[in-house]
Amino acid sequence: MTRAVGILGLGHYVPEKIITNTDMEKIVETSDEWITERTGIKQRHIAAPEEATSDLAYNAAVEALKDAGVAPEELDLVIVGTASSDYIFPSTACLVQARLGAKNAAAFDLAAGCSGFVYSLAVASQMVKSGLYNKILIIGAETLSRIMNWTDRNTCVLFGDGAGAAVVGEVEEGYGVLGIDMGADGNGGKFLLQPAGSRNPASEETVAAKDHTIHMNGQEVFKFAIQIMGKTAKRALAKANMKPEELDMLFPHQANYRIITSAAKRLKMPMDKVWVNVDKYANTSAASIPIALCEAQKAGALKKGDNIILDGFGAGLTWAAIVLKWSK
Ligand code: UT7
Repeated sequence: MTRAVGILGLGHYVPEKIITNTDMEKIVETSDEWITERTGIKQRHIAAPEEATSDLAYNAAVEALKDAGVAPEELDLVIVGTASSDYIFPSTACLVQARLGAKNAAAFDLAAGCSGFVYSLAVASQMVKSGLYNKILIIGAETLSRIMNWTDRNTCVLFGDGAGAAVVGEVEEGYGVLGIDMGADGNGGKFLLQPAGSRNPASEETVAAKDHTIHMNGQEVFKFAIQIMGKTAKRALAKANMKPEELDMLFPHQANYRIITSAAKRLKMPMDKVWVNVDKYANTSAASIPIALCEAQKAGALKKGDNIILDGFGAGLTWAAIVLKWSK
């Protein structure tokens, strides 16, 4: 008999400070109207100067552990999906592991851009399913405001900071993760990247060129997103032996309202079954799906037995979708 694996608890955290579209008008040449029409974003949360990704991750993790009724010492592994780690190394997961006192846990970061949380759930669920581990903390956490070019209106209006966490473990038979699809097309890596790194070690030139910030070809990422979200969701549904009409809720990556509606249309899902919060948080990359899940749980919108799908895409280019039967 195989082990059923699902989500035992959820938590999320967003920094207190909010920057509205009207505030953005004072930073770059843009308008609330343009941002709202093209993206659906109205505001974003921005980390305080003393806050870094591991702090956001830690706050979300504490809430998830409490929700799951799991102590830090029970954790076997901590995975942080992030594209804006505190340091290049050590991993943000190691920082969170230490701060939580999760002394029995291994820890690593997972780099899959905005797909980071869904990739992490795929990895964690299989490690629990195999019997290697029992309890794994997965976190999507970002302080994208630190790697944003605040003079580039093409990118700086799009992103925000936040974190979402989940404790993964064994659930009742028939519940939890039912189907997984993951993929990547590294040829598209050039469309969304932070060029600084071992190829461009820090120098006056790389700082002047803002190589340590997000560089994006928005139109290419948009085209990729609208075709891949439907495809990966359908593949995950096929693995779960489920039809789109059996889904109760879609949790898409929150990058752009137009991308979200296009994904919903491809799955023939009405918008009242789609969790949307891009207006409040903008694109929080790997944090967007777990924040949405946690909000839905807090709002009482998730019932035991609901069929849900997590549907993400991001830098890499990567994509991933997971179908779950909600077990809480
Ligand atoms: O998690 C994955 C990360 N990324 C994404 O998901 C992004 C995917 N892409 C998108 O969401 C969209 O492509 C954007 C929202 C980035 C852009 O929307 P678009 O409809 O593709 O606009 P565009 O790039 O074609 O730009 C249209 C115009 C341009 O002006 P011209 O050349 O037509 O005169 C831009 O310069 O809008 C201009 N523009 C802006 N205007 C006001 C670009 N950014 C802004 C801005 N405010 N912030």
